[in-house]
Amino acid sequence: MERTEKMSNSNIVVFASGNGSNAENLISYFRQHPEEGEVVLVVTNRQDAGVIGRAERLGVDCKVLTRAQNNDPDLMLPLLESYDAKLIILAGFLLMIPDFLVEKYNRRIINIHPSLLPKFGGKGMYGANVHKAVVEAGEKETGITIHYVTEKCDEGDHIFQARVPVSAEDTPESVEDRIHQLEKKYFPQVVARMLGDMQHESV
Ligand code: GRF
Repeated sequence: MERTEKMSNSNIVVFASGNGSNAENLISYFRQHPEEGEVVLVVTNRQDAGVIGRAERLGVDCKVLTRAQNNDPDLMLPLLESYDAKLIILAGFLLMIPDFLVEKYNRRIINIHPSLLPKFGGKGMYGANVHKAVVEAGEKETGITIHYVTEKCDEGDHIFQARVPVSAEDTPESVEDRIHQLEKKYFPQVVARMLGDMQHESV
């Protein structure tokens, strides 16, 4: 079915700066559950991001935009409207979201962070830095946080957390593997549940 012919709007736009395993997982999940939603666009800010190849392979439109373009309302708002975006998902996206998008897509932009926020969040806390900090702090557990995006880094209301144990033998790499498994398992489910709730609210 063509995107424009869908009965209800459950279009998802994924923003990603890096490898893109979460973006791919979301694309694949919604391909298998088309009644729940569809990833219609991937936005990245890096020309060398792994997510570009993944989107191409899976046949999802992908736009590479500079920081200035990401911050330009005259470009971003019409772009997102042209894809009829219902939900924006940050999956390893390293730029701050400009205020005009936070306002326009109030509680419709969510981020996944690879720690139990508020621990190990904020500036500089992304990717391997997070897992290294968790191990160095001798934490007994870590996890993932899915939260709303506000103008403040990693500070929006939490939607979902899941936990895993950390032992003295763990390395940043072993923690990262465990976190990726959590992300793979829960992120699409949480997004699908949100879309369902949004459809319900709009009736
Ligand atoms: C994930 O661990 C996510 O929690 C964080 O950035 C990482 C992105 O990984 N925000 P990938 O690019 O999806 O593989």
